[in-house]
Order: sequence, then structure tokens, then C-alpha cells
Amino acid sequence: MSRGLFVSLEGSEGCGKSTQSARLVERLQRERYRVRALREPGGTPLGEEIRHTLKHSPAGQGMTPEAELLLMNAARAQLVREVIRPALEAGEVVVCDRFLDSTVAYQGWGRCLDPERVRQILDFAVGGTIPDLTLLLEVPTEVSALRRLARESGTGGVLGGDRFEQEDTTFFERVAAGFRAIAAAEPGRVVVIDASPSVDVVSERVWMEVAAKLSDLSLDED
Ligand code: TMP
Repeated sequence: MSRGLFVSLEGSEGCGKSTQSARLVERLQRERYRVRALREPGGTPLGEEIRHTLKHSPAGQGMTPEAELLLMNAARAQLVREVIRPALEAGEVVVCDRFLDSTVAYQGWGRCLDPERVRQILDFAVGGTIPDLTLLLEVPTEVSALRRLARESGTGGVLGGDRFEQEDTTFFERVAAGFRAIAAAEPGRVVVIDASPSVDVVSERVWMEVAAKLSDLSLDED
């Protein structure tokens, strides 16, 4: 078993996950833990290039679901071996903004790829490295849709959001159903947090969950 702690944050577009990841990282640093802040897809030079291809590159228009699944997991395979495992072995707290559950929800449920195939590719990519704790931030789908639209209009409507944000409501309903199914199947790892209240209230709830895990581990602080 690794000596660090691996925490992932998950949720649909507009759930406030990135804000909460940043808050959690700040809090851990204030408490003097050694922290590694990561995001998926991305987190390595190779992964960031793949992220661009997946989200923004004109070359990604017309990407098939199968290619999307493999690119997500190419970035993940690199991140696990280049960064996550060494960080955990060094006793760090790894905070990852999305991880393997996003593949189950987006490529499995959203893109309707065969769940067994998705699981095989995931197993190959992560090779047993899975989060100790996953915080699933949930907002009603209407709230998520409104925040997505607000983000799109923030681009001046020129880009119309990234490739995922351009999907329709039914896609995001399937993704949300996927996340709920994961939480129901793995209650020991996945904690659902209502992300409708204020950022402060949600970040306190996030911290309570992480602090409880940390106290079980007695990790080295700085
Ligand atoms: P975001 O983290 O900035 O929201 O952007 C990442 C996008 O990629 C988001 O739309 C979810 C999507 N995604 C997948 O479809 N599958 C995955 O495995 C991951 C990590 C992300």
C-alpha cells in the first residue's frame, strides 16, 4: 500500500470541482502537508498536449468515442507512472481534479461505449492505482447547464465552449447518471457532496472528509 493519500474530485461540468480542488490544495498546504495538485486529462507535458487535442484542437473535431477513450487513458497512463505513483511513494497528498470515474461517466455513460471495454482500458491505464477517496460534487443538472452556458458566453460565443461543453443536455444527463451509479456501487471510496451551497460551505465539507482520511493515515507533515 502507498504511503501517501490519493484524493480525486469528480462531477459534471459546472459543479465547482476546480474551485474546490484549489481550495483543498490551499488548505492542505496551510496544514503543512506536502501536496501534489493535478488535473485530468493533463498533469504531465504529454498529458497537457493530449488535453489540448481532446478539448480544443481543430484536429479533435470528429473524434470517435473510441479514440477519445484511448487518448484520455494515454494521458492517464503517463500521469500515473510519471507523477502519481512517485508522489504517493514519497508520502505526498495527491489531489486530482478528475480521474478514472470521469472515463466511466463520460466515455461509458455519455458516449455509450461498452462498459466492459471501458473497464479493461481503465485497468490497463491505472494498473491498480486508484484513489483512496473520491469526492463527487453534485449539483442539479439545471444548475450545471446554466453554469456551462455562462462559461460559453464568457468566450464571447466565439469558441462555443470546448468540445465537451458543446454536447447536448441528454449527454450530460447520462454523465450525471453515470456518476450516481459509481457512487452507489462504491460507497466506501466515493463520497457524494451536495455542491449547491456556497463555496465556503462546500469546501468545509470537502475538508472534513479529507481530514478524516488523513487522521487514519498519520502522514508526515513538512
Ligand atoms: P475539465 O476538467 O476542465 O472539466 O475538462 C475536462 C473535460 O474532459 C470534461 O469535459 C470531462 C472530460 N473528461 C472525459 O470525458 N473523460 C475523462 O476521463 C476525463 C478525465 C475528462
